[in-house]
Amino acid sequence: MPSRPFSIALLGATGAAGRAVLEVLEDRDVPLSEVKLLATARSAGQEIDFRGEPHKVQAVAPGAFRGCDLALLCAGAEASRAWAPVARAEGALVVDDSAAFRDEAGVPSVVPEVNPEALDLAAGGLVANPGSLAIALALVLKPLQAAAGLTQAVCVTYQCVSGAGLRGVEQLEREASDLMNGREPQPPTRIRHRIAFNLVPQVGEVGADGVSAEEAGLARETRRLLGLPGLPMSATAVRVPVFYGHAAALHLGLARPLAVEEARAALRAAPSVKVLDQPGEGIYPMPMLAVNDDSVLVGRLRADAALPNGLALFLSIDNLRKGGATNLVQLAELLAARRPVA
Ligand SMILES: NC(=O)c1ccc[n+]([C@@H]2O[C@H](COP(=O)([O-])OP(=O)(O)OC[C@H]3O[C@@H](n4cnc5c(N)ncnc54)[C@H](OP(=O)(O)O)[C@@H]3O)[C@@H](O)[C@H]2O)c1
Repeated sequence: MPSRPFSIALLGATGAAGRAVLEVLEDRDVPLSEVKLLATARSAGQEIDFRGEPHKVQAVAPGAFRGCDLALLCAGAEASRAWAPVARAEGALVVDDSAAFRDEAGVPSVVPEVNPEALDLAAGGLVANPGSLAIALALVLKPLQAAAGLTQAVCVTYQCVSGAGLRGVEQLEREASDLMNGREPQPPTRIRHRIAFNLVPQVGEVGADGVSAEEAGLARETRRLLGLPGLPMSATAVRVPVFYGHAAALHLGLARPLAVEEARAALRAAPSVKVLDQPGEGIYPMPMLAVNDDSVLVGRLRADAALPNGLALFLSIDNLRKGGATNLVQLAELLAARRPVA
């Protein structure tokens, strides 16, 4: 049955995540009756093309969500905390792309291929889109959990600069251009240190325990998505000088032995997962292959002798597509389909 058209307000339409949402809405041909583009007063009046038509960006203000079926919030946690209650009060269901509500009881965090049943808990009309790498990990770990049971997970992430928004992209562009032209790069503007030709082992604020917000969030979100609250998991998150596409190395302990070929078969059968695993031919996941792909790419599968029934692998995901906008639009479609028929 074709889905009924619905109206949306997109907050953060001028940003990296917001622009990706518009692209995905176009690509999936989502039936929309109205699209309202919102951002700060800085961007008001700017025009963005959507489905071949220029759309004017409006400054978000009370009343902006009235008459909209869904509010898609892609403007960061602070803006989400301010505007999600307004959008709800004005009658819109909310899909939030920030970390503002991801840990709140009563706010499901959902990857449709992993825990679609959690959407039933969206009684408050608010659903959280998980973080990019939590989406990637959940997609890959769910079939492995089903095949052999996870006992522990250690993860190292390689996170691109667009994960820090358009300002992260601008910083790398500027620094790379300065350095290639023999100029001293200007002080960093978004990522704490120079990122061009460098690695920065910090994503998010570092807590008193030495763990960064990204590392803690990744472990917490992955456990929640998989329904494995006790899974021992640790992460090290590293910002790398790549524009688009995150990657991660995963080292897993399993409850039962799982041959590498069985692991490959389980991953091949999983939705939104693509196995690229012929290392002898140079075929494995890389950010440049993940860009514009709506699957998580997984490869370099091998036994890990350091862990019980150990398995190691490498993955890559487009942080702005399945790691962001695609998952968010899938959630919007599912919520819109649940609206009562007028
Ligand atoms: N980048 C990614 O890979 C990615 C992936 C998944 C999820 N996300 C999430 O998406 C959100 C936005 O990230 P981004 O990477 O798109 O950042 P960004 O490129 O810096 O864009 C931020 C957007 O939010 C708007 N905005 C900022 N503060 C606002 C406020 N107080 N009120 C209204 N609008 C405001 C900006 O409007 P102006 O243009 O007017 O300043 C801009 O449209 C974050 O929560 C992030 O965690 C990002």
